[in-house]
Amino acid sequence: MAPNQQIRPLTACVNAQGHLAIGGIDTVTLAGQWGTPLYVVDELTLRTACREYVQALATAYPGAALAIYASKAWNILALCALVRQEGLGIDVVSAGELAGALQAGVAADKIYFHGNNKSEAELTLALTAGVTIVVDNWFELKTLARLGPQLSYIPRLLVRVTPGIECHTHEYIQTGHLDSKFGFDPNEIGDLFSYLVDQPGLHCVGLHAHIGSQIFELQPHQDLAQVLVDLYAKGLHQGLPFCELNVGGGLGVCYVAGDDPPAIAAWVEAVAGSVARACARAGLDYPKLICEPGRSLIANSCLTLYQVGSTKTVPGVRTYIAVDGGMSDNPRPITYGARYTALIANKADQAADQLVTVAGKHCESGDILLKDVLLAQPESGDLLTVFTTGAYNYAMASNYNRVPRPAAVLVNEGEASLILQRETTADLLRQDCLPPRLMGMPE
Ligand SMILES: Cc1ncc(COP(=O)(O)O)c(C=O)c1O
Repeated sequence: MAPNQQIRPLTACVNAQGHLAIGGIDTVTLAGQWGTPLYVVDELTLRTACREYVQALATAYPGAALAIYASKAWNILALCALVRQEGLGIDVVSAGELAGALQAGVAADKIYFHGNNKSEAELTLALTAGVTIVVDNWFELKTLARLGPQLSYIPRLLVRVTPGIECHTHEYIQTGHLDSKFGFDPNEIGDLFSYLVDQPGLHCVGLHAHIGSQIFELQPHQDLAQVLVDLYAKGLHQGLPFCELNVGGGLGVCYVAGDDPPAIAAWVEAVAGSVARACARAGLDYPKLICEPGRSLIANSCLTLYQVGSTKTVPGVRTYIAVDGGMSDNPRPITYGARYTALIANKADQAADQLVTVAGKHCESGDILLKDVLLAQPESGDLLTVFTTGAYNYAMASNYNRVPRPAAVLVNEGEASLILQRETTADLLRQDCLPPRLMGMPE
């Protein structure tokens, strides 16, 4: 099965001690060595997902193609470098993510810079780095038309359009419907293309759209392909030097039993096939096809290890077990009711027959990681594993309650490499400033 269709990372297994192992290492050993909470990334799962995108594009699309990692899912140096090694490009949405991609050695011609409110400083950085800017609105376009000549650069652009396509996912992660903060409205595309044709200082090479995230249906992506190819043909007709089409990301993954996303190859085949057929019908040369998956590349490669601490039973209602992390390392449950699968890693061979609710340690009643899950008799000191935590977990993590963010390790064939240091209390206090007049008591 494709990595995005399984809940557990590819190398996860139960070892002779009855413990969960990953990348050839016992999770109890990992927790002992690196502490908890701990993100553990399985290298094989991540590389396999990258290869599936690369191979499927080469098979399904007759023209040039590039998969780029939507690094908003998790932008740290080691992960950016790993996807670069697999031949992928990277999309970024801030100066920080751009710095990560560049420092990880990603070539500028494989970096795409998104965002609905890029600052002038960020645009300057993007221009001087030579990356492609996915222009989102008129304000940004006019800023670029001014900045380009000032800095003696000709910005290389894709235009982000709002395709007017709705899909079935949480409203916070839908982006393709018309009432969205992202992209140009289809009704202004004619004016936009005329403006671009008159701007020799802007080099607009194509179009981009992204309809949302955690999508299981293929049809919205196929509809998007047709909408984009129609607009692409219109741009060419108006005289724009189009040669690229970026269809965004959005393929879903399996978080809980019953989640049924298409495999990576099936998604690519549907999307690339639709673009190719629409181009053939319109008599167009095949544009370079770009897709930018985030979640389906990284989510299932990672699990989070927590230590179980206190427990509380509300008679006749439920039993809570509390872990040493929560909404600070995984804000998705409290943000949009995201569901996960878990097990007690040191009792991985035992029957999961106790119905409990897993709470985080934060001062929010809503800080619940998993509601009503079956686990093997959880007790204080046990190690809890939550699967599928690679996408939008660390990336959206916070220091709420001044809790340090966890460490992360990359595991492969019995070796674990630290890829993210655990924050310390000193890290948390580093940015604080204490004016001297507040040091003592008032006179
Ligand atoms: C512009 C853009 N591209 C790609 C992605 C990646 O989406 P996913 O992680 O669902 O593949 C996102 C996510 O929100 C996005 O906003």
